[in-house]
Amino acid sequence: MILEDGLFPPLMGSPVGTGSSRVVLEYFGQPDCVIKVGYRNPPIANWTEWNLWLQVENDPALAPVFGRCLAISASGKFLVMERLNDLTDAQAAKRLCPPWVTDKKRTAFGVNAAGDVKLRDYNQLALGSFLSGIPLQLMPA
Ligand SMILES: Nc1ncnc2c1ncn2[C@@H]1O[C@H](COP(=O)(O)OP(=O)(O)OP(=O)(O)O)[C@@H](O)[C@H]1O
Ligand SMILES: [Mg+2]
Repeated sequence: MILEDGLFPPLMGSPVGTGSSRVVLEYFGQPDCVIKVGYRNPPIANWTEWNLWLQVENDPALAPVFGRCLAISASGKFLVMERLNDLTDAQAAKRLCPPWVTDKKRTAFGVNAAGDVKLRDYNQLALGSFLSGIPLQLMPA
């Protein structure tokens, strides 16, 4: 769901984390979600996560290991993702990561209210070697 940017500022709560391109805030009235606010222009990290989520959301093996994205703003500055809190050591031992996600640091993963361990910071990807080798299709005239 792509929504107008202006809808998001009234929904923004206290900070829960900061990265090199985003600050992550609570979402008023939605304790199981956060708002990831891009402070670089263009907000490419939010768009990368949104687009990747659209590619995996119906895949039974991949969808469970990525933080669910629920909405993005028209500019990409605001991304709504399920809330994934910091891991305990026992939860960290359950981290699963595709080889094409390159940012594998522990804090890139979190746990949701149901106890599912997932990636919450997945804007750094290396897809080229996994896409190569797939036969090309000849387009009809
Ligand atoms: N879905 C989430 N739920 C709860 N906290 C989150 C979520 N996503 C990110 N955070 C918190 O916000 C911090 C920054 O978010 P994130 O790592 O996605 O931003 P980034 O700009 O891509 O950072 P980096 O420079 O590490 O790649 C995280 O380290 C984490 O503490
Ligand atoms: Mg990141």
